[in-house]
Amino acid sequence: MLAQVIRADRFGEPVDAFQAEQLPVPELGPRDVLVYVMAAGVNYNNVWAAMGIPIDVIKTRNKKGEKEDFHVGGSDASGVVWKVGKDVVNVKVGDEVVVHCGMWEPDDPWVLAGKDPMFAPTQRIWGYESNWGSFAQFTKVQDHQCLPKPPHLTWEAAAAYMLVAATAYRMLHGWPPNVVGPGDPVLIWGGAGGLGSMAIQIVRAAGGRAIAVVSGEDKVEYCKKLGAVGVIDRRNFTHWGKLPRWSDDVEYSLWLKGARAFGAAFWDALGEKKSPTIVFEHPGESTLPTSGFVCETGGMIVICAGTTGYNATLDLRYHWMRQKRFQGSHFANDEQAAGANELVMAGKMDPCLSRVFPFEGTGECHQLMRDNKHPSGNMSILINAPRIGLKNLAETRAAS
Ligand SMILES: NC(=O)c1ccc[n+]([C@@H]2O[C@H](COP(=O)([O-])OP(=O)(O)OC[C@H]3O[C@@H](n4cnc5c(N)ncnc54)[C@H](OP(=O)(O)O)[C@@H]3O)[C@@H](O)[C@H]2O)c1
Repeated sequence: MLAQVIRADRFGEPVDAFQAEQLPVPELGPRDVLVYVMAAGVNYNNVWAAMGIPIDVIKTRNKKGEKEDFHVGGSDASGVVWKVGKDVVNVKVGDEVVVHCGMWEPDDPWVLAGKDPMFAPTQRIWGYESNWGSFAQFTKVQDHQCLPKPPHLTWEAAAAYMLVAATAYRMLHGWPPNVVGPGDPVLIWGGAGGLGSMAIQIVRAAGGRAIAVVSGEDKVEYCKKLGAVGVIDRRNFTHWGKLPRWSDDVEYSLWLKGARAFGAAFWDALGEKKSPTIVFEHPGESTLPTSGFVCETGGMIVICAGTTGYNATLDLRYHWMRQKRFQGSHFANDEQAAGANELVMAGKMDPCLSRVFPFEGTGECHQLMRDNKHPSGNMSILINAPRIGLKNLAETRAAS
């Protein structure tokens, strides 16, 4: 099969790291499914995989005993079930599916005990921590990763949303009692990005009030169309980065001034003096001090990434006195992925597909993402689908 492949000697800028190569089709285990990939979604994780930071995904897998000296990335797919392992019962050959990226071993005692598999020792992300992702003609996934493809979507739109949508769903619904409900004000960083565009819609579907943060005039309307009740342009502020030391009077008071002005901008955007009960975090180092400061008493800062850096700084005085929660969150379990998919099925969440690339454009779209020059929403890549606009196997056969 043809695949877009990353190798260790090409780690670096994504535009060069991905190269098309011929590879054997992967073998299936008893609970595995081989999916004929129509389209693949583009996510930040394979920017990291291409650069070899923060981890070398190939070396990490080799240390665990896997032999392949390459990485076939891709953690989102739409396609058709081509072949199933002998114990697979939930899907059959010919089913049109989308794939979520949560993997865990079926015989993991944690999973067998019915606990949240996202905490299981064998949990990993398909197409990032696992090989045989969706940037290839065939991908190998576990049976429980397959969900029905929303019939109203094209292959390319169906491939675009699952990773970010399910991650946002867990962040906003997965950490009781801090879950989004009617009227709740929620601060969403990167509102026009992959995660943010899904988060706005999940908040809206739950009756909450999303305030999105963006950089750029064009993104303001974009977020409002998705359901944000207000938008803040982060370019109006300069207090970003790690928190200055509390004992440094000048630096700290400058930072505090910026954080207070940002908090006031949140109230303005919301139209009332209420602070966010949930702060949807992923930029990390650059924004976390502000997130911690503006979060409502008893509220939650929920974080799934550190795109701008990993060193977390919080003013603990506000954190303990106002009893805020700082919660890490990572992808989603089967139920949460299904919950996100149902919102899409019901037409309550749009995949926000922005741009579609040909198979040869795999490096280019990841490079645009790395440079934060990609369009708002989510991008996808045509793999086996012969052109855009096709929604099912019958249409695809007719077009081929
Ligand atoms: N743990 C998980 O399960 C999980 C799942 C999905 C994604 N992630 C991670 O989450 C991060 C975001 O993913 P994504 O798909 O949403 O990426 P994305 O589409 O690139 O969106 C990220 C947004 O962040 C904003 N941003 C960039 N630099 C910023 C800064 N210095 N301060 C504030 N905002 C900034 C940008 O919006 P503006 O420039 O308009 O502000 C951008 O649109 C990535 O690191 C990704 O790896 C983690």
